[in-house]
Amino acid sequence: MARFFIEALRRRKEVGAVAASGRYLARAITRTVGSNGRADRVLEVGAGTGAFTNHILDRLGPGGKADIVELNPRFCEKLRCEVVDPWTSTQDDRSARVIESCIEDANLEQSYTTIVCGLPFNSFSPEVANRILQQLVDLLAPGGTLAFFEYACLPSLRCMVPGPWRQDARAHRKCLRHLSASMRQERTFVLRNVLPAWAVFLCDQGA
Ligand SMILES: C[S@@+](CC[C@H](N)C(=O)[O-])C[C@H]1O[C@@H](n2cnc3c(N)ncnc32)[C@H](O)[C@@H]1O
Repeated sequence: MARFFIEALRRRKEVGAVAASGRYLARAITRTVGSNGRADRVLEVGAGTGAFTNHILDRLGPGGKADIVELNPRFCEKLRCEVVDPWTSTQDDRSARVIESCIEDANLEQSYTTIVCGLPFNSFSPEVANRILQQLVDLLAPGGTLAFFEYACLPSLRCMVPGPWRQDARAHRKCLRHLSASMRQERTFVLRNVLPAWAVFLCDQGA
């Protein structure tokens, strides 16, 4: 918790939150992992200190693989030492690796059955947010699901403030509408989180 808060202060724009997500949001956003009886290929983006990673690894079934992308080197070290390496040492039929990189530069070859994204889209310019969202949709396997979260009310509050915040929030909404047009969208409200949030799921209809 302390590590997250310190990095949140040092790298405010990148981290985009003052506290790591809680277990209720983690449970909601990772619900599609291990749910369909096939070997999952999971991509987690913006893993931070592992709030969602623990749940992903717990749910990963036989043959499952997880790629965990995180930009911040301190978070990557914590993820490797405290989450992924201890888990890997107890598994022989599933695997996970931490990729220390900006998602836009990450060398990813797979098509993923589930992508869980913890990126702070509201801290990014609309151009960057839209580019990354499109990149993630393109990385989905047919029938795959992209899950991310939005703090409740934040987009609406941003839309109420005249100026660049409103423009950015509207551009972000427009991009989501555009992406959702060809996908099924589901949303789950999670009250017990700092701050309350929506888990948003964009489901590819290809399978
Ligand atoms: C809001 S925090 C979420 C952390 C964790 N998933 C959680 O919910 O507690 C966002 C994380 O995304 C990482 N991040 C920001 N920009 C990134 C990028 N372009 N590529 C990969 N990770 C990024 C930050 O370092 C930070 O750890």
